[in-house]
Amino acid sequence: MAKLLVTGGAGFIGANFVHYWRDRHPDDAITVLDALTYAGNRANLAGANSVDFVHGDIKDTALVESLLATRGIDTIVHFAAESHVDRSIHGPAAFIDTNILGTMSLLTAARATWLAGDGKPHRFHHVSTDEVYGSLGPNDPAFSETTPYAPNSPYSASKAASDHLVRAWHHTYGLEVTTSNCSNNYGPYQFPEKLIPLFLINALHGRNLPIYGDGMQIRDWLHVEDHCRGIEAVLLRGRVGETYCIGGGAELPNITVIDTLCAAVDAAFAADPALATRFPDAPAARGLATASLKTTVADRPGHDRRYAIDETKARAELGYAPARTFEQGFAATLGWYLANEAWWRGVLDGSYRDWVDMNYTAR
Ligand code: NAD
Ligand code: TYD
Repeated sequence: MAKLLVTGGAGFIGANFVHYWRDRHPDDAITVLDALTYAGNRANLAGANSVDFVHGDIKDTALVESLLATRGIDTIVHFAAESHVDRSIHGPAAFIDTNILGTMSLLTAARATWLAGDGKPHRFHHVSTDEVYGSLGPNDPAFSETTPYAPNSPYSASKAASDHLVRAWHHTYGLEVTTSNCSNNYGPYQFPEKLIPLFLINALHGRNLPIYGDGMQIRDWLHVEDHCRGIEAVLLRGRVGETYCIGGGAELPNITVIDTLCAAVDAAFAADPALATRFPDAPAARGLATASLKTTVADRPGHDRRYAIDETKARAELGYAPARTFEQGFAATLGWYLANEAWWRGVLDGSYRDWVDMNYTAR
């Protein structure tokens, strides 16, 4: 039986991981530590039984030390972060604070508790991103664990720094760490600032779909449940001190993702007349194409052109492979957002609307 501390467990991927782990490892103890920033939401954990929620900051080293010691925690799965590139462009300081100083604080607490203790096995798993590797040209090989770091945004630079700290705490102090660098996630509970949920909710409200630049930027789309399986594989079978790249095997230009989304919304409205009553402002409610909402806006400064993941190592060592195609994962995600209108209405509060005004009005 493992005792997990999941940081950022009220955010998008962290909450999906908690649900995933609770279902598959019912005897394990789970403590979630989350500061409940704009991206954190306790409602994301509804239905996850026997999960102990602690409202607190990863930068509170004393709090983390006390949680590790008093609860006998042997595994940290570290998701807590500022995670949105556009926000990092408007305000990088929070990214340095949470992603770098916050990770250092967690490492400090883990070292103080685990390495000064009785020497029992432990694991610090750090969840990172493929964005630390920079941007690929059209014919470059996909990112792998040996690709040199070349972060381009304040977000990816802060994540790169945190990866290096985790590596250093292993090599210098002997902390038992693993790191995973994954591609763009999508699925339930994703905050509607990221491409897929933002565009889905805009489509339902008849609002523009703001495409940055030429829309030909490429991302490798990973369904969040596949990501959770990848992290599980690293926790159960990964080698201490190693890094694993986790991808979705779905390299797509943004415009293809957006066209898939528009066509799927049209098809959903055609199949279910009740949607037109629920979302009367959607073009699809009037038989018009959702694609009519597509609008080109100014590009993101420093926008990375292409990300792609070569997951050979995770496949060979851990038996990891994504279980679903983008089409399957996207259809399930659309279904989830249509079925969980109360959830996304609940997160569209005043501070979020201020963000939308700031980020999109100037473009
Ligand atoms: P998210 O923004 O949805 O959630 C982040 C969570 O961390 C929130 O619940 C927030 O309240 C919490 N948090 C923030 N600062 C905190 C602090 N100081 N102390 C405690 N909790 C704090 O993020 P996400 O999309 O779920 O991403 C999770 C992790 O995965 C991040 O480390 C991110 O860099 C990484 N990642 C995400 C993606 C993606 O596509 N979303 C891709 C690659 C890697
Ligand atoms: P995003 O979901 O913010 O993830 P990331 O920047 O980490 O890849 O964006 C995914 C892609 O979609 C990225 O190339 C930027 C683009 N994008 C838009 O074109 N318009 C938008 O409004 C947003 C949020 C993103």
